[in-house]
Amino acid sequence: MSGKHLNVVAHPLIQHKLSYIRDKKTSHNEFRDLLHEVSMLMAFEVTRNLPTEAVKVRTPLTTTMARRISGKKLAVVAILRAGLGMVDGVLKLAPLAKVGHIGLYRDPKTKQAVQYYEKLPQDIDKRFVILTDPMLATGHSAVKAVNILKEYGVKHIVLMALIAAPEGVREMHKHHPDVKIYLAALDQKLNSHSYILPGLGDAGDRLFGTK
Ligand code: URA
Repeated sequence: MSGKHLNVVAHPLIQHKLSYIRDKKTSHNEFRDLLHEVSMLMAFEVTRNLPTEAVKVRTPLTTTMARRISGKKLAVVAILRAGLGMVDGVLKLAPLAKVGHIGLYRDPKTKQAVQYYEKLPQDIDKRFVILTDPMLATGHSAVKAVNILKEYGVKHIVLMALIAAPEGVREMHKHHPDVKIYLAALDQKLNSHSYILPGLGDAGDRLFGTK
């Protein structure tokens, strides 16, 4: 499974750090630091095609033409709660990006994503949105979050996840074929509880130490 809307970032630094993120022996604070670092490295790839414009810069010796990012500004939107773990890494590279939050929980009966919270930058429709959620499992949360962003008129959205199951990628491609997905790994499948195999367990619990 690949294509122009699925980008598995195979950089050795990312794969190396991911091996520790997956490891059950990795402590919560190490997990958090590693997720932060991987998010920063992935943000480098996600922002690769941002438009730039020529600017004149005066160096201590002369003037020269250089390039700066132009046009659309960035927003990072975290799907609560595990998506929070990827925000700071993006902000490290793009400190002026605004940050939004979408809270979703899974209805235990229908297994569908239900919204309980949303707070987005006022000019979200004018921004290039990096939606963060480390685990793209069934895809229901990501699809719902993109629905919400599109209701606000957002036109340029990418999903930055750490690990996905093929089921989640298919669900996203079915509902939002325009949204590019960036991953560090595409795993094998979901188990009967919709956890990704081999995965890393519950990303929220591992990030916040709640289990
Ligand atoms: N959410 C997680 O935190 N882990 C999974 O494997 C799937 C969904």
